[in-house]
Parts: sequence; structure tokens; C-alpha cells
Amino acid sequence: MSLLRKKDVAALSEQVSPLKRSLKTHDLVFLGIGAIIGTGIFVLTGKGALTAGPALSLSFLIAAICCGFAGLCYAEFASMAPVSGSAYSYAYISFGELIAFIMGWDLLLEYGLAVSTVAVGWSGYFQSLLANIGIHLPATLSSAAGTTENGVGIFDLPAFVIVLILTYFIAIGINQTKRLNDTMVIIKLVVVILFIVATIWYIKPDNWHPYAPFGWYSFHQDLATGHTLAAGIIPAASIVFFAFIGFDAVSSSAEETINPSKALPRGIMGSLIVCTILYIIMTLIMTGVVNYTVYAQESFLKAPVMAVIQATQQTWLGWIVSLGAIMGITTVMLVMLYGQTRVSYAMSRDGLFPKFLGEVHPKYQTPFKGTWFFGVVCALLAGFVNINILAEMVNIGTLAAFVMVSAGIIWMRKTQPNLRRGFRTPLVPITPLIAIVFCLVLIAGLNWDTWLRFAVWLIIGLFIYFGYSRHHSKLHDQ
Ligand code: ALA
Repeated sequence: MSLLRKKDVAALSEQVSPLKRSLKTHDLVFLGIGAIIGTGIFVLTGKGALTAGPALSLSFLIAAICCGFAGLCYAEFASMAPVSGSAYSYAYISFGELIAFIMGWDLLLEYGLAVSTVAVGWSGYFQSLLANIGIHLPATLSSAAGTTENGVGIFDLPAFVIVLILTYFIAIGINQTKRLNDTMVIIKLVVVILFIVATIWYIKPDNWHPYAPFGWYSFHQDLATGHTLAAGIIPAASIVFFAFIGFDAVSSSAEETINPSKALPRGIMGSLIVCTILYIIMTLIMTGVVNYTVYAQESFLKAPVMAVIQATQQTWLGWIVSLGAIMGITTVMLVMLYGQTRVSYAMSRDGLFPKFLGEVHPKYQTPFKGTWFFGVVCALLAGFVNINILAEMVNIGTLAAFVMVSAGIIWMRKTQPNLRRGFRTPLVPITPLIAIVFCLVLIAGLNWDTWLRFAVWLIIGLFIYFGYSRHHSKLHDQ
């Protein structure tokens, strides 16, 4: 049946890519770290600590285990089919076109909303840095409509501009993207390590008691709004899962990587391991130096690392960390935007999206028009839309992709056991099954309105598939 028409994995790997191949293992590890460390650790830890208490480190560990198991599955797929498109391409070879389209559609949501959400977080840090040197933007240009209580914001100018600048870098070439990313990742790593070294001595183990005041999963009433909210280790894990998102974007660079079947698994797992270690240490510090309840103060909720810096009275560190956060968050946007353009490139090349999105620029060797198209859409979203209410959709979109990739590994081992794989996920089917269970637990920890919005997004995607993509697919006449 045509809905299940599949791509042949051998033919897929043999096709010659017009994209420029220049990435090596260490670039991929950097690309991964670039995408992973950002708003999650610099902003969301405050909300996470209020949700789980000191057990936040356990929530981070749960999210890390989920990503680690899913990461192993990504690594096998990436080594088996080193092509652009990440989970979209993996779905095309394992489950066929319809699921592939849904996956691609889902990834566009994940990357697009991640870029816009993170751009708004970036704008917040950037404006506070400007404020420190006495520069204040007009209120109407400092935030999107509906995002502030006084309602004066109309347009988030910094968020809009930063997305366009990054789009420019991605459009003009992978080498420029790589250099920009590598420099900022080094700065961000130095800042994170400096933060750890400067504050770890101030931990008071008493702050870790009681360790899990809200248990694994419980409900409590928010005193301010009166709403009933989920709390505990699992809901916090669902929130901070965001902090790990990004390593999957590494796999979308397959066609620009030298020796991808070896380099991709190393890049994916390497970046994940480095970030997990740093995150666990940071969360132990953030719940150990101060009592987790301090994050209820609005300023600390927005910039939780500042609570630790203030408690240790190291004001000099505040500046450096703000700068590190800005750099860190910039690379997240850069890699997510990059991932999005590569998924849309692959979908357009396959005929599922209009041709112009996949046209490769003769000089820059990048999908130039597609990059600008999605860059401008993300910039407009970040500038004009109250994106905060959609941020959880990034998590559900990514978790859905993890489930598909993990299930795909079980399926491919059954249906194509003899295919050449540069990396084999250990203990199949146990590893992918564990990944799927963890993903489902984390999806359960999200709010129901997020599930609903996600369902609406998928339904829109189905209309596009049946209205356009199915008839334009390159596999249509075969
Ligand atoms: N992992 C990325 C971040 O935390 C999305 O910003």
C-alpha cells in the first residue's frame, strides 16, 4: 500500500549529497553540546527545583537515562543510514512514508518552537545584561504581546533579530556555522565549569533534606493561581527533559560528516555524557547551596544560577555566568535552526515539501532558500507570539520522535537483520523498550493541554500529507 511505501536503505546511503562534507567527531560532540546546554539548565532548573525539591538531581538523571537509551537507538540509525533528516529519514526506511511525514512534521514543530522559545529566553538574558550598563529598550519592543502583566509589549525585537542573524550564518555555510558554534561552546563550557568550581564548596547538605518533599508524583494547589499542579520527581523530569533536547539534531548533520557511521554515534553519545555529568553536578549545587524554596522568588525563577551566586557572594561570577548563558542559549538556537533546515531539506528532496525548500545554493552548498524561509518564520514567532504557552510542545514533539526511533530499531533488527551497521545498540529489544517506557512516563508527566495541541498539529500535518505531499512524493510513480 502506498502509504507504507518505503525508501531502500542501501540506495539511500549511496546517493551523492551536494552538501559540503567537513564535520568530524569532535565537531559533532561540540554540535551536540551546543544544542544541549542552554535554557534548560540556565532557566528551567528553578521551576524544576520547585516541582521536585532537592530531588531535582534525580529528575535530571531520569531524563538523562531516557535520552541515553534513545540516544543509543539514534546512534544505530545514524550509522545505518547516514543521511540528512534524522528521525524523518529513519521512519522512511523503517515504517514507510506516512509515518515518515508525520515524523518530519513533528520535527519541524520541535525545532521551530525550540528556536523561538529559546530566543525569548535569550532576549531576557540579553536585556538584563543591557540594563546593567544602563541601556533599556522601549517597553513596546522588549516583549511580544500578551507576555507581560502590564500588557505593554508588542514585539520582542532582540529575539527577532538574533534568529535572523543565526539564519544568516546557517545560510552562508556549514563552516561558518561550525566555527561560530565551536567558539561559543568553548566559552559556555568554561563558564559552566567555572561556576561549578567556584560554588561547589558552599554546599550545605542540610539543604538536601527532605530530599523529595513532593514524592514521585503528587498534586498540590498553586497558592497564587489556585490551579492544581502536578509536582514531584516525574513531573520535574518531564520539565527538565527540555535541557537534554538537542543531541538528536546531531544526527541531522549526517551528509555533512566525514565517516558518518563512526562519527555520528560518538558525537551523539559523547555530547550526552558530557552534558549529563555537568547537569547532575550543577543541580546538586543549585539545590545544595540554597534551599530550593528560594526559587519561588520571581527573579531567581528566571535566572536560578543567580540565587547560588548571590548566596556565595561572588558578584564577579554573575557577569560571567550571564555571558555564558547568552552564548549557551545562542548555540542552542543555532543547532536547532540548523536541524530544522536539514529536515525540511530532506523532505523537500523527497518531494513531500515544495522544491524550493530543498534547493542547494551553488556557492554556499546549503539549502539557502529553505534556511531563510524557516529562519524568518521562527523569527516572527519569537518576535510576535506568546511562545511560552507552547514551550511544552517541544518536549512532547521530541519524546514522540524518540519513541518512533526506538521502535524503529526493534523493527529494523527484525526486518533487515543483515544490514551493515557501524554501531549496534546493545541489548535490543531491551534498550529501545526501556527508552519507550521512559518516554511514555515523561509524556504522562506533561499537561493534558500539551497533548491536545500536539494532536491538533499532527492533524494539520495529515491534511498537508493527503492534500499535497502524497501526490508529489518522489516515490509516487515508482
Ligand atoms: N536543550 C536545550 C536547552 O536547554 C533545548 O536550551
